Amino acid sequence: MESELLRYERLAEDLSGVIVAGNLRPGERLPSVRRLSRERRLSISTVLQALHQLEDRGLVEARPQSGYFVRHAAARRAQPSARSTPEGPVPVDVSQRLMRVLQTSILPGVAPLAAALPASSLMPLAALQRLYGGVARRHPRLLEASSHINMDEPALVRQLVLRSLGWAGPLAADELVITNSCTEALSLSLRAVTSPGDTVAVESPGYYLMLQLLETLGLKALEIPTDPRSGMSIEALDLATRESRVAACLLVANASNPLGSIMPDENKRRLARLTAERGVAVIEDDIYGDLHFGRERPWPIKAFDTAGNVMLCTSFSKSLSPALRIGFVAAGRYRSQVALQKTITSGGTNPLTQVVLAEYLESGACQRHLHGLRRSYERQVAAMRAAVARHFPVATRITEPQGGFVLWVELPEEVDTTALHDRAITAGVSYVPGELFSASGMYRNCLRLNCGNPHTPDIEDAVRRLGKLITA
Ligand SMILES: Cc1ncc(COP(=O)(O)O)c(C=O)c1O
Repeated sequence: MESELLRYERLAEDLSGVIVAGNLRPGERLPSVRRLSRERRLSISTVLQALHQLEDRGLVEARPQSGYFVRHAAARRAQPSARSTPEGPVPVDVSQRLMRVLQTSILPGVAPLAAALPASSLMPLAALQRLYGGVARRHPRLLEASSHINMDEPALVRQLVLRSLGWAGPLAADELVITNSCTEALSLSLRAVTSPGDTVAVESPGYYLMLQLLETLGLKALEIPTDPRSGMSIEALDLATRESRVAACLLVANASNPLGSIMPDENKRRLARLTAERGVAVIEDDIYGDLHFGRERPWPIKAFDTAGNVMLCTSFSKSLSPALRIGFVAAGRYRSQVALQKTITSGGTNPLTQVVLAEYLESGACQRHLHGLRRSYERQVAAMRAAVARHFPVATRITEPQGGFVLWVELPEEVDTTALHDRAITAGVSYVPGELFSASGMYRNCLRLNCGNPHTPDIEDAVRRLGKLITA
């Protein structure tokens, strides 16, 4: 029989789940003690014990004669906070462990909660298929490329420039280099402005592939504390670049991976100015810029750059299809170095795909698709937050992403997500352990979940199984 202890913990967990997921909002009254006691078949003292635990955690407050209410600070408190990071740069060594995690996550029967990949049902595949057929027939010359020096298609360059016209500083056609994916864009940009042994400032926690790039290029990572709401700390970046040489700053200002934070415009402006003054090149990954949950598309740091110092990298992997493998760099004053790196790396980018993308971007279908996709990702992230709140321990903190489709989860100190990973795979659930988001091995009690798939009962059950392993 379930002990009284477990029962009150269970009730506390259920109630905190509802609060953290936003289904009971700040200021709202919880069901009365009597009602909870009657409906959950628990003694009054068990219910009170659960409510006291929520009070201790700052989630609810008792008001005399009126009952229990969700505290206004409850939702914010449930987010992880930025942590202090090592003061100096460190070498990176994540690749081996990361490859293992990503390989095990695609084993048959494992729920896809690791890599940040969207469900193909969310991608406009039928429209892209039709365009591939049509473009190949209408433009036979596309299979007759005559040069490897510059294969960028003018029709695509034009569309990319037009899409940025709403920004304070739009992209210029002559600074663009079309790439095979965002990964290639990041790699070319890094190689254009760094030499082995250099230091690169990165977000902490930050996207693991960026750490992998630093590792393979022999670069050191300087971890800068990053806040789940406002992104990389400008104060910390300022301090870090005051005395030591930092060759580049690599970050995701719009819907960062893994935190989902969007840097406020004022911070973007400060970052653009500070880095230009100190000679630190900025490599900005804007892959989630179109996938914001707020009304307006956030501007990238690039929009505030007056010195040509920001290289904006992106791709259509999260919005149209990861299989297109197409992206670009708007490289500012580093354009010629980036173009050279592109030539020696892969020559050019498939012209057929470039024209397909240009025609899709030109059609009204693209705006409609993006509008629906943003809502789907937002729904999926909310459903995953609610599932984590339901199934993970009460003390769990969860981010409130402002865009994108990953969730960062901070577990009680004693949980080791690296040690737990093999058992999770055996139980048919994948995730990315937190330590892979840090060059210095921080965040061992954290993990990242992919919310790129519709929240089906199978996904809910996978989250439940993971929660069970964590609480065991
Ligand atoms: C921030 C960020 N940048 C880049 C990528 C990779 O993009 P691509 O598939 O275009 O190389 C990802 C994918 O997870 C990502 O999250």
